[in-house]
Amino acid sequence: MTIQAAERPSENSPENKSVTIKVGLDNRGYDIVIGSGLIDNAADHIVPFLPRPKTAIITDENVARHHLKTLTDSLEAVGIDVASIILPPGETTKSFASLETVCDQLLDADIERNDVVIAFGGGVIGDLAGFAASVLRRGTRFIQIPTSLLAQVDSSVGGKTGINSQLGKNLIGAFHQPVLVLADIDVLNTLPDREFRAGYAEVVKYGLIDNPGFFNWLDQNHNTLFGGEPDARRHTVETSCRAKAKIVEEDEFEHGRRALLNLGHTFGHALEAATGYSQRLIHGEGVAIGMVMAFDLSHRLGFCPAQDLEAVEAHLKSVGLPTRASQIEGDLPGAEEFFKLMSQDKKANAGVLTFILTRGIGKAFITSDVAKDALMSFLQEQLPPQ
Ligand code: GLY
Repeated sequence: MTIQAAERPSENSPENKSVTIKVGLDNRGYDIVIGSGLIDNAADHIVPFLPRPKTAIITDENVARHHLKTLTDSLEAVGIDVASIILPPGETTKSFASLETVCDQLLDADIERNDVVIAFGGGVIGDLAGFAASVLRRGTRFIQIPTSLLAQVDSSVGGKTGINSQLGKNLIGAFHQPVLVLADIDVLNTLPDREFRAGYAEVVKYGLIDNPGFFNWLDQNHNTLFGGEPDARRHTVETSCRAKAKIVEEDEFEHGRRALLNLGHTFGHALEAATGYSQRLIHGEGVAIGMVMAFDLSHRLGFCPAQDLEAVEAHLKSVGLPTRASQIEGDLPGAEEFFKLMSQDKKANAGVLTFILTRGIGKAFITSDVAKDALMSFLQEQLPPQ
């Protein structure tokens, strides 16, 4: 069986407005392609990676309903045999049970070590499918086709894959880089508002880490972006992916600077664990609250001016994101219990927590030097007894 040549996009195709960012990681480097109409023309991008006309797509029920046919049609039109593995949506799918299901179904579909599988979905699917690829037959290659804003700007890039443990989020996993990322901004049109908004927290994160100009641009242009304007969306995904690619190139395995990408995440992951990874709080909402907590703690420790904390909180509020733990419905644990949840963080070293703090917008830094009593009194204020 041979793979037929796919029809190239026409000169006027919106795909011609696509942007390619290179992630330079020697023999693990890859392209991130960002643009419109990429899923319609997916075969053009994917076929060069396939050693034979066969692949498997791992996705969830929501993405399958909206977009799976478009992707499979593109691949089948050039003679590719496609197996589809469709999982329930939601964070609870990032489990050992789902990992087993995915691996068994990939093996059942005769996916071999040299084949390439496709993660087609948001952060949950990307992390789970990437981890399954990393262990299947001791390692198969995979392509990320992220369908949420969060996955397009963060989780599909950089090779972090994994599942959650009962003891915390993303605690079981592997670094396994994709061979290609295809970020089709058209799919963002079918994303529920809450998911888009949650992904936006990860976009704001790049401005807060080291790009105050981007934060200002977002402050001025968020209405256009939320309104669906393609150039604003492309610019947002591109700026985020460039920032992420640069940090990943410098520190692929997170021995240092990559930890900056976890701004707001130590608090956010603990909030997600405290709410049982449920719809009470989705990941990006936890990150939004966590970033405000990181700015607030930095302010109290004397690092960050009050006006920067206020500007960040006002911006996140203006797009409808939660900014304080008190906005989460239902009970939350007290400070001691919350500290235990934070202590499961992967960045902990010899039992000492690592914090991403800030000297202001665009001035994040990494430190382990936060006194426990200062942290505990901060947590007691943030998580008052219910
Ligand atoms: N999402 C954080 C990282 O990829 O390092």
